[in-house]
Amino acid sequence: VKVKILPDKEHASEEVAQRLHDLIVEKPNAVIGVATGSTPELAYALLADKIQEHNTDVSQLQFFALDEYIGLSWDHPESYHAVINRTVTEPLKVDPSQVHIPEAGDDSTEGPVRYYDEKIAEAGGIDLQLLGIGRNGHIGFNEPGTPFDAPTHVGALTELTRKDNSRFFDGGVEEVPPLAVTQGIGTILKSRQAILMAFGEAKADAIRDSLQEPPAEERPGSSLQMHSDCTFYLDEAAASKVE
Ligand code: F6R
Repeated sequence: VKVKILPDKEHASEEVAQRLHDLIVEKPNAVIGVATGSTPELAYALLADKIQEHNTDVSQLQFFALDEYIGLSWDHPESYHAVINRTVTEPLKVDPSQVHIPEAGDDSTEGPVRYYDEKIAEAGGIDLQLLGIGRNGHIGFNEPGTPFDAPTHVGALTELTRKDNSRFFDGGVEEVPPLAVTQGIGTILKSRQAILMAFGEAKADAIRDSLQEPPAEERPGSSLQMHSDCTFYLDEAAASKVE
């Protein structure tokens, strides 16, 4: 894993947006894996500015979201369908048909879940996967204990993750679904390049464990030590416990 420590979130997001834009110019049909959550929002906004400024062709890109809650309707403002629409599809001015989001029935592991990895493979595989990280080290919604070879699957969210994500919901933690469908760690590790962004002191333990502890299922972020081309973009607070 390569590590870039930037003075703040603004500098880190600018570097990530620039890398994304370089990729899109170099490979107009690139396949990009997109995370939700608060961490990548600024990078997406800065990428949208660059696309506008350079009149960059985005018509052949494909996007694959990392995850989606189970049991929230897609028009709920916090469903990842809605979030990706708001933060990626609309600002980047891509057609919704270019954007894929994993799906599942209400509590089902059947159906579209298992086709997601096939859809990624048919698109040529993910060129660049963006990731955030949870305080407990989750990537996507792969919580501690997820096998490193897991494909896209349905998993339960931990109470900590539900509590952390309750900040987006008016109704508090009760409103945060207990299950989600997520690209597996196995899916993530197949991407050709990966970028993990983390900002703020709350992420410092997860970042230290991901980089400095041996890879283990209890530390999902540590699986990225096995990725062939992964870079962490950190602000100083998130990097503060890395030695
Ligand atoms: C989002 C996702 C999660 C988040 C993580 C951090 O698609 O897969 O792993 O990246 O929960 O969330 P934020 O960025 O809100 O701190």
